[in-house]
Amino acid sequence: MTEPKPYSPGLEGVIAAETSLSFLDTEKEEIVIRGYDLLELIRSKGYGDVVGLLLEGELPMPERLQAIEREMTQAEIPTAVYDILRLLPASMHAMDRLRTAVSALAGFDPEANSTDPNSERRRGPKVIGQIAQIVANLHHIAVGEKPEKFDPRYTLAENFLRVLVRRSVSPAEVRAFEQSLIAYSEHELPNSTFAARVVASTLSDLYGALTAAVASLKGPLHGGANEAVMYMLLEAQTPAGLEALIRRKLAQKERIMGFGHRVYMRKMDPRAQLLKEVLRSLVEASGKGHEYVEMCQLGEDLMRTEKGLYPNLDYYAAPVYYLLGIPIELYTPIFFAARSVGLIAHVIEQHAENRLYRPRVSYKGPRGKKI
Ligand SMILES: CC(C)(COP(=O)(O)OP(=O)(O)OC[C@H]1O[C@@H](n2cnc3c(N)ncnc32)[C@H](O)[C@@H]1OP(=O)(O)O)[C@@H](O)C(=O)NCCC(=O)NCCS
Repeated sequence: MTEPKPYSPGLEGVIAAETSLSFLDTEKEEIVIRGYDLLELIRSKGYGDVVGLLLEGELPMPERLQAIEREMTQAEIPTAVYDILRLLPASMHAMDRLRTAVSALAGFDPEANSTDPNSERRRGPKVIGQIAQIVANLHHIAVGEKPEKFDPRYTLAENFLRVLVRRSVSPAEVRAFEQSLIAYSEHELPNSTFAARVVASTLSDLYGALTAAVASLKGPLHGGANEAVMYMLLEAQTPAGLEALIRRKLAQKERIMGFGHRVYMRKMDPRAQLLKEVLRSLVEASGKGHEYVEMCQLGEDLMRTEKGLYPNLDYYAAPVYYLLGIPIELYTPIFFAARSVGLIAHVIEQHAENRLYRPRVSYKGPRGKKI
């Protein structure tokens, strides 16, 4: 056993895993995904490409890409999983309903308990497709409607959006949504990915690791921020309203959702910059939503001057989802569905080179008490 290292609250700055999947290079302001710049992947590739890249190591050739899309879009959801979701109160948080569904999926996978990386890699696209289909139908089920299947004629991203909003969608809308999915697909070692790796390190299974990750992502300091941002923008209504709201919250020492980041903190999250462009293109293409562009810019400028803080991805993803007409309770579940590929890739990596996570504590309680 090695000597304990000094305590770092929140494990800030601690290297807790070795990975070939991704790296946040804050010096170069680049997010490296298996050697590629994430922003380039968002600009020029589809979500299926990123699934192939993360799970299999290389960008897929056209034939493999088609097969991955087929595996994702043809994935069946066991009837029992939808039945379980119907039994849950609609008042239950969407992330809690999703957590239950992800856990239940294990019951219908004959290889659920296999921790063989090859088995996990093979099952990956199907599990990603199942999670996307469940998220797309989460709201419909809660309001008593029938779930809809994905149609293998369309990509996963297009199916996901079509089923979410149940109307015809334009190519510009599908592209904006797909770009958000790629932006969310993988991001090194945030709390949820760490949670998944910690669970996987006990040689527990993929579904257990994913279930833990849903629970982690729900929190407003993590994935829950995107829905909180939208509620803030709706409460503010106008740029002037947002300025007043942010000033009031700051005066009360409250956190402004969608700002700050453990790794970037005093720099702009590169993904936020790109999603800002996506928001602008979406608004230009539809001619609607100019007020959100204006409001978000004002919030961004105000937080930079008042607190030296920059927006993160959630800040700009929220208005994009709102303009697409997606129910707000699904913003964080969509983040999870998009991130499922990164999570599965991390679980595969953990199982391939496993070492049990078991850190130590700095004890500050009493000693020597007598019974
Ligand atoms: C993401 C987050 C949890 C990172 O926090 P962290 O690494 O633990 O940073 P700290 O809490 O130490 O914050 C450092 C300072 O910035 C301030 N700060 C950080 N984020 C802030 C925010 N969103 N609004 C207001 N102040 C913020 C803190 O109050 C603290 O100020 P202080 O030194 O005067 O006390 C934090 O920025 C946050 O709560 N953001 C809002 C939620 C969010 O958008 N989450 C999604 C992240 S992708």
